[in-house]
Amino acid sequence: MRYLTFALAKGRLAKKSLELFEQIGITCEEMKDEKTRKLIFVNEELKLKFFLAKAGDVPTYVEYGAADIGVVGRDTILEEGRNLFEVVDLGFGKCRMCVCGPVSAKELLQHHEMIRVASKYPNIAKDYFYNRKHQTVEIIKLNGSVELAPIVNLSEVIVDIVETGSTLRENGLEVLEEICPLSARMVVNQVSMKMENQRIMKLITDIKELLEHENTKH
Ligand code: PRP
Repeated sequence: MRYLTFALAKGRLAKKSLELFEQIGITCEEMKDEKTRKLIFVNEELKLKFFLAKAGDVPTYVEYGAADIGVVGRDTILEEGRNLFEVVDLGFGKCRMCVCGPVSAKELLQHHEMIRVASKYPNIAKDYFYNRKHQTVEIIKLNGSVELAPIVNLSEVIVDIVETGSTLRENGLEVLEEICPLSARMVVNQVSMKMENQRIMKLITDIKELLEHENTKH
């Protein structure tokens, strides 16, 4: 039996995914040591490997087959546009991709004005403004703390993730338009899906059953 390799997006999602996997018997003791600098973790018995990667790199590892399976946010999947199968909505990491800005920017969105849009997600922003709203805009790529952009007049609006809304509130900004809902997703390499179909389908079925069971509990 060959190893099945999992790429998990570093941070909150990885922790939640490992908790979920543990409940269906997929464990990795080595990974629980929070101080370790190791990059790859193995469960010899179950022939599984796990590694943590920057969220934006997870779809890349999965598309090329360096990982058979990935767990990453839908925001990253949409932004990266890689060839892979999105197989399960894991239901955690729920948030929304939105156009945000000061309330005064609302009319700029209604009148199709040529505005500047700052975002960590230039592809999602481009798709939304060009293909859905048919509004020509200038997209400015940023790497974080995007809420700063309208405050310092780098852009009129931003396209960003809103979870609790507190970052917006504390900075005098609002959700102006909603683009799409987001959550953590399990993705699979297209060749692995064929070559390791039984093992991967079992994993998908187990996770779906677990999620259904959890949903009926609440
Ligand atoms: C994300 C996102 C928002 C914030 C939204 O940023 O880009 O800034 O969280 O969460 P809230 O609605 O609960 O306030 P992150 O913390 O990942 O850091 P970054 O801004 O450096 O990307």
